[in-house]
Amino acid sequence: MTTNTPKAVIVIFGATGDLANRKLYPSIYRLYRNGKLSDNFAVVGVARRPLTNDQFRDNVKESISHFDDPNIDPDSFANHFHYNPFDVQDLTHYQELNKFLQTLDEEYQTEGNRLFYLAMAPNFFGTIAANLKSEGLTATEGWTRLVIEKPFGHNYESAEVLNNQIREAFTEDQIYRIDHYLGKEMVQNIEVIRFANAIFEPLWNNQHISNIQITSSEVLGVEDRGRYYESSGALRDMVQNHMLQMLALLAMEPPIKLTPDEIRSEKVKVLRAVKPMEVEDVDNYFVRGQYDKGIVEGEEKPAYREGNSVDENSNTETFVAGKLLIDNFRWAGVPFYIRTGKRMKKKSTEIVIQFKDLPMNLYYDKGDNIHPNLLVIHIQPHEGITLHLNAKKGDYGTTSTPIKLNYNNNSNDKMNTPEAYEVLLHDCMRGDSTNFTHWDEVALSWKFVDIISKAWGNKSADQFPNYESGTNGPKESDALLQEDGFHWWAVTPEED
Ligand code: BG6
Repeated sequence: MTTNTPKAVIVIFGATGDLANRKLYPSIYRLYRNGKLSDNFAVVGVARRPLTNDQFRDNVKESISHFDDPNIDPDSFANHFHYNPFDVQDLTHYQELNKFLQTLDEEYQTEGNRLFYLAMAPNFFGTIAANLKSEGLTATEGWTRLVIEKPFGHNYESAEVLNNQIREAFTEDQIYRIDHYLGKEMVQNIEVIRFANAIFEPLWNNQHISNIQITSSEVLGVEDRGRYYESSGALRDMVQNHMLQMLALLAMEPPIKLTPDEIRSEKVKVLRAVKPMEVEDVDNYFVRGQYDKGIVEGEEKPAYREGNSVDENSNTETFVAGKLLIDNFRWAGVPFYIRTGKRMKKKSTEIVIQFKDLPMNLYYDKGDNIHPNLLVIHIQPHEGITLHLNAKKGDYGTTSTPIKLNYNNNSNDKMNTPEAYEVLLHDCMRGDSTNFTHWDEVALSWKFVDIISKAWGNKSADQFPNYESGTNGPKESDALLQEDGFHWWAVTPEED
């Protein structure tokens, strides 16, 4: 690994796109402002559009204007940015870019370090990787790394083709596949909560845990991403990557060292142990949904099928709930439930670990109920941990009352919690690939998800749309847990 204030030229393909403007430029700015990036850096924006350097810098300044930090002159920051109109299929453009990178390397003293960030539609990932190598852009004195955005393929087969193409030009060590959930503070916290607390890890198994629930709900609909989403759906958009990554972190064994290889190999073992399903069995484990119109945060919103570039009879799911089993010594018999959807009641990502009831608990509450212990890990927007316990609370009897111990990670300095992309960019420049997905993880996740896609692709979803916008998804999602004697723990505070 290299230093904490890395030196590099960052080449962003897709420099005029939404991701670059919304996430990458603000993240580079925050790294710069927080002293995590030395002055020895330059950014080269690459895209088809013919912009001048000044126009590009204006876009960059616009993307960071909300920071309004009196200590940083936006012009001196933006002067590190350069623009190159580019055709990714034209080899002469790569040759010119290579010469330009050499001049920047001298000007900014970046020691030949180059980070290529592919923030664009995936059709050209393979071509770009191959051309970067064939035209000599990867042959430098320093390090070269390739950052790839999702979607990484559409299924296992296409992901493998893409991976093989990229691997012809870059080694696995040089490839950083982004899953932005792995950059989130509280997702990174899962390991620490588990492995640095004596009160959790001994209980973290099928002897003591009855089920684990991972929910990521969104209020937004598909908005203007209909074209992409129609061929993706919630399964490929959220489950194949973010949801399975969180599951792997919750279920993995403690790594023997905190190195990328050790941590990632523990996650791979979990994904290998996920019980495979037969296509005919999928309906017993997974539920799909699509949003209808409805009221979200007081506003009437249209159905998914009414969206731009969406088929009026679309079969695409905007909601998935599922039950996964992990066939290993620690987890045999414990269901892991996942749930994700758009246009739900609330924007929230939360993990609930439900512990088993005690064998002979005599301490009922006033309504004659027993309350299980829960550990809730709040990923977003609220960041923290809540431990649900039982205690006697100010009366003469021995009834128990549920109480909560709360830890708020973002109560005081919300502004300083680093943004996921900021953390990941910094990790990549430092050569730390822990929070990026290894090919083995991607491959196993696709193999699991492909079975579900196959089952769903085989028959049209005649019940669609099956949940109203602004709700917690279709009733079948509740039934999935009820069959096992459980229920979803609420994601909205009023139900909490
Ligand atoms: C992206 C998906 O990967 O994650 C989007 O493509 C989704 O559809 C987003 O909205 C959710 O991310 P976050 O960080 O807002 O939970």
